[in-house]
Amino acid sequence: MRPRQSRRQFLIGGAAAGVGAAAALGTVSALDHAPAAQAEAPLNGGHTVPFFGEHQAGVDTSPQAHAAFVGLDLRDGVDREGLRRMMRLLSDDAARLTQGAPALADTEPELAAVPAGLTVTFGVGARFVQRAGGQTPAWLRPLPAFGIDRLRPEFSDGDLLVQIAADDPVTVAHASRMLLKDARSFAAVRWVQRGFRRAYGSTPAGTTMRNLFGQVDGTANPVPGTPGFDEAVWSGQGWLAGGTGAVVRRIHMDLDGWDALDPTGKEASVGRRLADGAPLTGGSEHDEPDFSATTPLGFPVIADYSHVRRARGEQPAAPAERIFRRGYNYDDTPVGGDVSNSGLLFVSFQADVDRQFVPIQRRLDELDLLNRWTTPIGSAVFAIPPGCREGGYIGETLLG
Ligand code: HEM
Repeated sequence: MRPRQSRRQFLIGGAAAGVGAAAALGTVSALDHAPAAQAEAPLNGGHTVPFFGEHQAGVDTSPQAHAAFVGLDLRDGVDREGLRRMMRLLSDDAARLTQGAPALADTEPELAAVPAGLTVTFGVGARFVQRAGGQTPAWLRPLPAFGIDRLRPEFSDGDLLVQIAADDPVTVAHASRMLLKDARSFAAVRWVQRGFRRAYGSTPAGTTMRNLFGQVDGTANPVPGTPGFDEAVWSGQGWLAGGTGAVVRRIHMDLDGWDALDPTGKEASVGRRLADGAPLTGGSEHDEPDFSATTPLGFPVIADYSHVRRARGEQPAAPAERIFRRGYNYDDTPVGGDVSNSGLLFVSFQADVDRQFVPIQRRLDELDLLNRWTTPIGSAVFAIPPGCREGGYIGETLLG
């Protein structure tokens, strides 16, 4: 069968490139005895996502398994010309690495050969725009303070965002190292937040992700490539036309507290079933919740305090308030005797953060049963400039 042959050829090709032929043949014969499903898994390492285009990749790109979000602070004295030099350099690195080619002066060019769907997405904070001499969108500032917030500076704010995502964590590590080396004289790392979804190949493509509460998370999202998505996500404003706004929130999830809830309580807090993400009013994952349905005792089937009811607000959901969520799980080293230190890197893209994101977050701040087990501990807002053409660079509409 073809996939198996191609793996075999790949290994033999590796032997020709310098691996001992005998050792390589040993590997091939071991593969011949491997279970059929394993031997036939198609390779994904060579998959590339175009870097150049109207929009930056990494927003409407089907989410890869691994991501690193890096927030940087500009160094003092980096002026408009410095910003331009930095963005040219970083765009060039990203253009090469995403296509499986080493960056210029790549110290580990071997690692660049497996792009695994790598995307690099740049975002800018208010200070970046001011130094560039551009017009700052009104929403490009820290979010208003919310009662549920327990924000920590080490996970918040920043002048430049670099979102690096791929289906292979080695690829992500290599790309971040190359980009951060080239950014070093212009900007200092403020925070790095790493996240993951299910590994590539573990579930069929297009499966909605699960967060670490076990919930299907991302169902009621605008669908990339549809007019609804374009309207919610892409901006039409000035230098940001073809770009978007990004909100990155680190939300701690109290897994121990969640464990104490029974399945009915867990499902009631969100308004959807754990098994398949279907609304509590029935059907399957993508069926519309019926918020008017009541139990025989007259209570709403989907509680008024549930996360989906509160997140949606008006019925039907006001188009003005739609956001595109593209988050990742995190699972860090436990501290202080806890057994977990986990949560969600909540990431949403929307054309206007004040008009679309803030009203939803306000409602959730006022009432959302999920708040009992979730605590925002980091928060940052960035403008994601549009994409560029070959020979151009990200940020040129602001710096050109
Ligand atoms: C750790 C924190 C959070 C968890 C565990 C969580 C989980 C979920 C789950 C399981 C769903 C239902 C399935 C779906 O449509 O994706 C959902 C829906 C949603 N969430 Fe969250 N969420 C969190 C934070 C947030 C935040 C901070 C916002 C925005 C401020 C938000 C906005 C939404 C929206 C807009 C929906 C879709 C509602 C609808 O129209 O049906 N969520 N979330």
